[in-house]
Amino acid sequence: MVVSLILLWIGFCLLLFLIRTRRPKNFPPGPQPFPIFGNLLQLNLENPVIDLQKLSERYGKVFSLYFGGRPAVIITGVEAMREALVTKAVDFAGRPDGVLLSHLTQGKGIIMADYGPGWKEHRRFALTTLRNLGLGKQSMEERILGEVSHISAHLEKCAGQPIDPQTLFHNASCDIICSIMFGSRYEYDHKFFQAMIKMMADNSKIANGPWGMIYDTMPLLRYLPLPFQNALRDYHTIKMHVLDVVNEHRATHTPKEPRDLIDSYLDEVDKRGKDCAPFDDGQMLTMLLDLLFAGTDTTSNTIRSAVLYFMAYPDIQAKCQQEIDMVLEGKDEPCFEDRHHMPYTQAVIHESQRSASTLPLSVFHCTTKDTGLMGYDIPKGTLVIQNLSSALYEEKHWKSPHSFDPSNFLNEQGQFEKPPAFMPFSIGPRTCLGEGLARMELFLILVTLLRRFQFIWPEDAGEPDFTPVFGVTQAPKPYRMVVKLREIMT
Ligand code: HEM
Ligand SMILES: *[C@@H]1O[C@H](CO)[C@@H](O)[C@H](O)[C@H]1NC(C)=O
Ligand SMILES: *[C@@H]1O[C@H](CO)[C@@H](O)[C@H](O)[C@H]1NC(C)=O
Repeated sequence: MVVSLILLWIGFCLLLFLIRTRRPKNFPPGPQPFPIFGNLLQLNLENPVIDLQKLSERYGKVFSLYFGGRPAVIITGVEAMREALVTKAVDFAGRPDGVLLSHLTQGKGIIMADYGPGWKEHRRFALTTLRNLGLGKQSMEERILGEVSHISAHLEKCAGQPIDPQTLFHNASCDIICSIMFGSRYEYDHKFFQAMIKMMADNSKIANGPWGMIYDTMPLLRYLPLPFQNALRDYHTIKMHVLDVVNEHRATHTPKEPRDLIDSYLDEVDKRGKDCAPFDDGQMLTMLLDLLFAGTDTTSNTIRSAVLYFMAYPDIQAKCQQEIDMVLEGKDEPCFEDRHHMPYTQAVIHESQRSASTLPLSVFHCTTKDTGLMGYDIPKGTLVIQNLSSALYEEKHWKSPHSFDPSNFLNEQGQFEKPPAFMPFSIGPRTCLGEGLARMELFLILVTLLRRFQFIWPEDAGEPDFTPVFGVTQAPKPYRMVVKLREIMT
């Protein structure tokens, strides 16, 4: 009995040794992986941040980890990030397949589409259309300010009592994207809107949590009835709802007079005629859902962080309000151009974005060919994870890397200045497609709200806690805020 157990054990060890995962030659260094699990067992999956920090301290700016049998390279710091994403742009512009998100999107759309004509043409289409839509009947600013008036109305009703603003900001961010895509916003209690919000919340919970990690690293478990099956099902349901909206547009749209992104897509398909590949319904639906996903949590979590900082630093809030009151004196509403006269407020908004580091690990990339980085060799098809936080907090690039300090974005003369290490939207060919829109949203929403309201940390709430909840999109812990109406000088 004992002998056979020992033999079994020896056999097991031999097997482990034989299938031991080996790093490719001259691959970035990292901890020795176990078979099947890779380095997963060495990480705390609920919050791997601390473990990963230790690894990057030990192995340097470019290191590697195994997710199951799959090697991943982690890029840290501004210099390595620039070499990979700007100098060797195309080499690092792929997206991995075989992860939960790419199964949802089937490689279509934009975010998870691999480097190639489908991605390139849809990215170009979306960028141009977002720009041109602003020129139509309703400018982008009007769409955003329209939504802001709903936020304000809601806050006015709640003035004086502590509320958690999470769903309010979330709904507003989502509705701005809806207005751009579908031509109109939804009431927050509309059935379709409700279903969409719920699907996104559930899916990001799954994608953010251990289930997503398990799905991505252990393909054998994918077919079991585990929570990610719900993610796949709900995604499909919403896609079918969006298809209904698209078909309504098809029935009512006048060619060359786009009311929104869907109309523009239909025009594009017409323009291309018979041979309209890679433009088709499947691609359009995925692209629309991509924009919803990409534009909702990111924007609303950033707003939530900014408001948290306003409350934690009342003097900074007051200084913004003073500047805003002065510049907007006599005007009903701000416009995006006003930012040039509000260096301090601009600095505070950017500092909030830096501190929030909303997408700390960006979106995973993948090498499109055999390439190299900082002297190491990286084969084609390697998962690449860029640590955006590491650039946003890198000591040599910031006046105050580790504290909330608007002077990170102000020069000696008090003018607004953006250091090159500011890359919350990433850099290179895959850089955030919604950056222009997001910057406009952050500015118009925060400026309008600061002008109308004072944000106060509730007295009974203890100290503000800045520790973020880790996830694909990182967010502050839920909190409550009290708003007080301000006098507006118009
Ligand atoms: C504060 C808000 C936002 C932040 C911090 C943010 C950040 C990012 C980051 C870091 C990436 C990954 C870039 C890379 O892979 O290198 C990304 C991609 C993307 N973002 Fe944003 N984003 C924000 C808002 C938006 C909005 C409002 C939209 C929608 C219009 C949007 C659409 C996209 C799309 C479509 C991609 C994929 C681009 C591609 O793969 O080519 N984002 N974003
Ligand atoms: C990214 O960088 C931050 C700040 O330097 C660090 O705390 C975190 O652990 C790093 N994450 C990874 C995956 O290396
Ligand atoms: C946001 O929308 C959700 C879903 O429709 C709803 O349950 C929630 O009450 C809304 N939040 C606010 C503040 O209106």
